[in-house]
Amino acid sequence: MSLFRTKNLDTMLATAQKPGGLKKVLGPFDLVLMGIGAIVGTGIFVLTGTGAVTAGPALTLSFIIAALACGFAALCYAEFASSVPVAGSIYTYSYFTLGEIVAWMIGWDLLLEYGLATSTVAVGWSGYFQSLLKGIGVVLPEALRAAPGAQPGVETLFNLPAFVIMILLTWMLSLGVRESARINNVMVLIKTGVVILFIVVGVNYVKPENWQPFMPFGFGSVMSAAALVFFAFIGFDAVTSAAEEVKNPSRDLPIGIIGSLAVCTVLYVIVASIMTGIVPFMNFKGVDHPVSLALQYAGQDWVAGFVDLAAILGMSTVMLVMAYGQTRILFAMSRDGLLPKKLSEVHPKYGTPFFATWMVGIVFGLIAAVVPLDVLAELVNIGTLAAFTLVSVAVIILRKKRPDLPRAFRCPGVPVIPGLAIVFCLALMSFLSWHTWVAFIVWLLLGLAVYFGYARKRSLLNGTEQ
Ligand code: ALA
Repeated sequence: MSLFRTKNLDTMLATAQKPGGLKKVLGPFDLVLMGIGAIVGTGIFVLTGTGAVTAGPALTLSFIIAALACGFAALCYAEFASSVPVAGSIYTYSYFTLGEIVAWMIGWDLLLEYGLATSTVAVGWSGYFQSLLKGIGVVLPEALRAAPGAQPGVETLFNLPAFVIMILLTWMLSLGVRESARINNVMVLIKTGVVILFIVVGVNYVKPENWQPFMPFGFGSVMSAAALVFFAFIGFDAVTSAAEEVKNPSRDLPIGIIGSLAVCTVLYVIVASIMTGIVPFMNFKGVDHPVSLALQYAGQDWVAGFVDLAAILGMSTVMLVMAYGQTRILFAMSRDGLLPKKLSEVHPKYGTPFFATWMVGIVFGLIAAVVPLDVLAELVNIGTLAAFTLVSVAVIILRKKRPDLPRAFRCPGVPVIPGLAIVFCLALMSFLSWHTWVAFIVWLLLGLAVYFGYARKRSLLNGTEQ
């Protein structure tokens, strides 16, 4: 048995088209909104504060660097997504380019990315939600406010709001894609509307002297901030995991990925420059609602209130799409025999992987309840950057191995663009903390153990190798 055995592309496409599979209901507009739904969230609403303190007004540059890394990777994603429209994102793509063990490790890595990203955002959501509750005089008991050790000097034990929001979203997702996509669309329009409102109102209060000095702590700090706010862009890749539910994947997926990424980059760079233009950047220290703080600073309390509300909605949609992406990866890995069959059972009435959806919701809801936000965000970033690096490598390999493959979208400038994606992603990874590296390596080793102990023996590829 070869570790690098690959799946046959034609069989894969045939499986995806079998009746009884997932319903094909999504169009390009749904996908762009789905992308924005997954992208705009905790990154812009919470992490920009830490980003500004780290890099100063040059945070705008950090956003551009992170966006470039994502943009190059997005072009690679789009090529794959348009040539292999089956569920499972880059897990699936790598199964027939790089071989089973690499596909397994990527799938394992994606489970970390999507799962922990959902938990991370649930924690950010909980912070904004509690500040809203406080506004109407409701304060939770200390023990139920956050994960143990999350707030110095406070005896916190369990982040109840984070857990509850995860369960609510899981319930929505388990009832069906169409319904969830519709709710997602409305929420995305609300949150982008409010971000634009912030821009239009905030621009009047910018004091250009706050942008001086532009790069107070040097270029290294700009890179550190980029490695952190990279989180703000995560999510466009979740669009690819919906491939089997898209009506015209070869055209719609590239539109969904690149469109949503472009819109968000423009919004982030403008928001970051306005924020640091209104508030001297050191005032963001320890602030977990930096965007609304900037408006309060400008004396626009009512707009700040709107921003808080939109942040709550915005983060809900991020969780929805992330949790969705993860169940689809589980679905694909299970259908291939690498994970228990139960995870790819489709509910007869709702047409969704019901069991997998609930399992993911409960497990990552519990993680959100007991692990602090910063620990989670760094782990998500390292997992995602690793996945982006691999997909960029895979695009180069696939061009060599299968030049004949129909590609509705071709990444321009291969191998230069994938090469740039690899360099940018590795550079950002090198700015993450060593604890994050250790945890990531432990997760990968665990993945190898599960592969050799379970997945390899159960793979549907057993007995089909030539
Ligand atoms: N990009 C997503 C967010 O910032 C994960 O919440």
